[in-house]
Amino acid sequence: MKSAILEVKSVTKAFGGLLAVDDVTFTMFEGEILGLIGPNGAGKTTLFNVINGVYKPTKGHIVFAGQDITGLPPYEVVNKGLSRTHQIVKPLNEMTVIENVVVGACFGSENLGLEPARRVANEVLEFIGLDKYKDELAGKLNIALKKRLEVARALAANPKLLLLDEVLAGLNPTEVGKMLDVINKIRDRGISILMIEHIMQAIMSLSNRIVVLNFGRKLAEGTPDEVANDPQVIEAYLGDPEMAKRILEEEEA
Ligand SMILES: Nc1ncnc2c1ncn2[C@@H]1O[C@H](COP(=O)(O)OP(=O)(O)OP(=O)(O)O)[C@@H](O)[C@H]1O
Ligand SMILES: [Mg+2]
Repeated sequence: MKSAILEVKSVTKAFGGLLAVDDVTFTMFEGEILGLIGPNGAGKTTLFNVINGVYKPTKGHIVFAGQDITGLPPYEVVNKGLSRTHQIVKPLNEMTVIENVVVGACFGSENLGLEPARRVANEVLEFIGLDKYKDELAGKLNIALKKRLEVARALAANPKLLLLDEVLAGLNPTEVGKMLDVINKIRDRGISILMIEHIMQAIMSLSNRIVVLNFGRKLAEGTPDEVANDPQVIEAYLGDPEMAKRILEEEEA
């Protein structure tokens, strides 16, 4: 049997009276792509922030590769081999593309010195198809390239588990296709991936299993087929006009 790479155990995160994440439990296994979906405000990004140590959970535990990492700060979590991207991209705008990725490698799981970090950065940029932009200022890239840079920085940390927060959002269909290729290539390297995504077709085709959040709670968990046919999931999405509109638009496209 495959071993667990991540165990989210009864995790709650409260902001004042609001339970942004409410008693959520699931396990993901090594080599898996696990999709995390749910309507806007469901608590997906907050759960990422608890997993990588931006927030301490109000209750519950995070176990990564068999080790309890609950409450560790993000720089220690990344040292252990868990890195992430941000929904709102955060490149170091005044630095070049390669410098951004070097920073990711220096503060990653191996704490590389500058020279080895530069070697890793070059490899990652080539792997992800950003090598021809490496000397451009990160702030000058368009959104699709900034999203790829965000993934490159996280990859340069040499993670065992990568958290992707809406890396397809704002991309046109061609750019979405390129990013899907990148994600598949990352999986082929043996890196486990937990990804948040609103584009249903993409998340359904990429994921081995899917966890659905709604109002902070886990609403469903299963294969893409099981989840897509779950009446509670359909109701949660149709109850959200923005999401229903997006799903309808995708079906028309
Ligand atoms: N720092 C914070 N302080 C107070 N409330 C917060 C904070 N961060 C998130 N929230 C609230 O927690 C809930 C969950 O937000 P979160 O960003 O995790 O949702 P999400 O599922 O990622 O949504 P989206 O799909 O729109 O990105 C929302 O009601 C949000 O307003
Ligand atoms: Mg979010």
